[in-house]
Parts: sequence; C-alpha cells; structure tokens
Amino acid sequence: MEQQRHLGLTAPSMYDLRNLFQINVEEGRHLWAMVYLLHKYFGRDGREEADALLQRNSGNEDNPRILQAFNEKTPDWLSFFMFTYFTDRDGKFQLCALAESAFDPLARTTKFMLTEEAHHMFVGESGVSRTIQRTVDVMNQLKTDDVAKLRAAGVIDLPTIQRYINFHFSVTIDLFGADESSNAATFYSSGLKGRYEEGKRSDDHVLKGNTYKILAVENGKLIEKEVPMLNALNEVLRDDYITDSKGGIDRWNRVIEKAGISFKLTAPHKAFHRNIGSLSGSKITPDGRVVTSEEWMSKVGEWLPTNEDRAYVASLMGRVVEPGKFANWIAPPVMGINRQPVDFDYVRFS
Ligand SMILES: [Fe+2]
Ligand SMILES: [Fe+2]
Repeated sequence: MEQQRHLGLTAPSMYDLRNLFQINVEEGRHLWAMVYLLHKYFGRDGREEADALLQRNSGNEDNPRILQAFNEKTPDWLSFFMFTYFTDRDGKFQLCALAESAFDPLARTTKFMLTEEAHHMFVGESGVSRTIQRTVDVMNQLKTDDVAKLRAAGVIDLPTIQRYINFHFSVTIDLFGADESSNAATFYSSGLKGRYEEGKRSDDHVLKGNTYKILAVENGKLIEKEVPMLNALNEVLRDDYITDSKGGIDRWNRVIEKAGISFKLTAPHKAFHRNIGSLSGSKITPDGRVVTSEEWMSKVGEWLPTNEDRAYVASLMGRVVEPGKFANWIAPPVMGINRQPVDFDYVRFS
C-alpha cells in the first residue's frame, strides 16, 4: 500500500489501475481489521502494538517493517505482479493458519480476508502471464530469443522474468520464519494457530512424537535433518506454500509452450538466497548446490535481477490510461472486470 502511488502513476492500462486501487482499498481494510482486534481485545498492550504498526513504514531506515519482504522496493509493475502472486500468497497461508485459531474473533476475521487475497493473487498471476504472452508474441514475430533484440523491441525477456521469480520466491519463503522454532510450537499447542487445512489432516493434531524433515548444510552439502514436528511448523507451512506457488509457474509455462517456444520457468530451490533460518549462513544456487562466496558473487547476476535488469524494466514503465489501450510490454487481459468489456472506462479522473 505504501508503495502504490508510484505504481498508480506508471500503470500499464486503466484495467490495471482499477485492480491496483481495489488491492489498495482491501489491504487498507486488512490493516484496519487487525488494528481493531488489537484495540478491542488486548487493552493497553494492544493499543500500543497498533500504534507501533502504524508508525513503521516500508523501507524506512529508522522504523522499518518487521518483515523484510515488506521493506523491499516495488518500483515497477513486474515487481508488483510478482509481489501479488508470491507475497500475497504468503498472506493466504498465514491467514489459513490463523483461520484455525481457537481465538474466534481472529479466526473469523482472517476467513473474510482470505476471500480478498484470492483476487490479489489473480492480479499477480494474470499480470505475469500477460507479460509473458506479450514477450513470446514478439519473440515469434521477430523470430528471436536474443535478449538485446527483445529489449530493443520493448518487451521483458524470459531470463529476466526468471530472475524476478527467483528474487520474489526466495524473499517470500523467508517470511515463514526459522525452520526450527519453539515459538511456532507454542502458538500451535496453545491453539493460537493451526496448520494449513488442519481439518483435512488425519493425524492426531497434537503432534507430540511426530517428526518432520528440514534442510541443513553439513560439510559443504545440503542434507535433510529429522526434527520434532512441533518445532518445524514454520517449515510445514513453507512447504505447503511452495507446492501451491509452483502451480502458477506451471500455468505460465503453458503460455510459453503454446507459443512453441522452448524455455521453462522454474521455482528456485528452497535453500536458494535465504536470509532467515539455518540456511541463511550459506550460499546456495537456484538448483540447490552449496557454493563459495566467490562463486556466488561471480554468478549472482544470472540468478537475481541485476541493477541493469531493474533499470531496463523501470524504463518500460510509462503511463497508459486511455480505456482499452495497453503498454507495449504487456498483453491485454482475456476478460474485463465484473463482466465489463476490457476497454471499459474503469477509472474516472477529476
Ligand atoms: Fe491482505
Ligand atoms: Fe493481499
């Protein structure tokens, strides 16, 4: 929300601007709903926490957001679509865990929020999909996969899209917290939180004596380590998230396949570019190899968006707000909003 003014000024179409506004309003209400719970049920502690929530700002040097993904810049629409696909999906999983809460006001509020997150994730998935559609159309028109030629034609090359996926995926899975956490065990056992789709699981829901596999680095290699499941509930939720988020990447690949182009987007390894938990001390490639800092430094430009990538994507961000017109780097959507046509006058300027 704090970063959407710039996005509003650089919207690739009126349709996209309309979606941005809806997300902004709904996320504002999600903040309001959480502040309401704090005020209503937690006395002075709650009021102080609510104040602190309002005082912290995205990317602020002195008073940043607690979770790093919310301090990362969202300077362009590709980042915005990646954020709403990957990071709003973190929201979905956190909300699903809280929807299982024994604290009924929290469970009810989060169930309502979940219905709105679905639309945010749709905006992200379809936004990336339309970006890819436009790129593969131009690749076929020009009969090239040459990055320089595609950039000269004003579309976002697939390797750059892959680097954006690597960045947003890795930053987002950090949000689930440390792989081993005694807080996670306490939250679960005290009934504050459940797991994703707790009701569909056939175990005893107490989990004493159950174990779960987490990753660790030993002697320069990634290994699996068995730990008590109660302490690994962050990892359980992260793994559920990863399965869910790979679905959209498969659907993006179908757009590329349909265009007859041989290029496959993939989710990076769970251990890639981690800054939280036991893997944060190691340098691990997108395919899960532990490497030295030197190798990391020499290859990182192939794995994460470079300054040059970001500057190129930023250079495409103009403002297109005439109904039915779209920026050159993105294809129109298949359908409009609320059964209105794609060229409907979605936003009135005064
Ligand atoms: Fe939200
Ligand atoms: Fe959201």
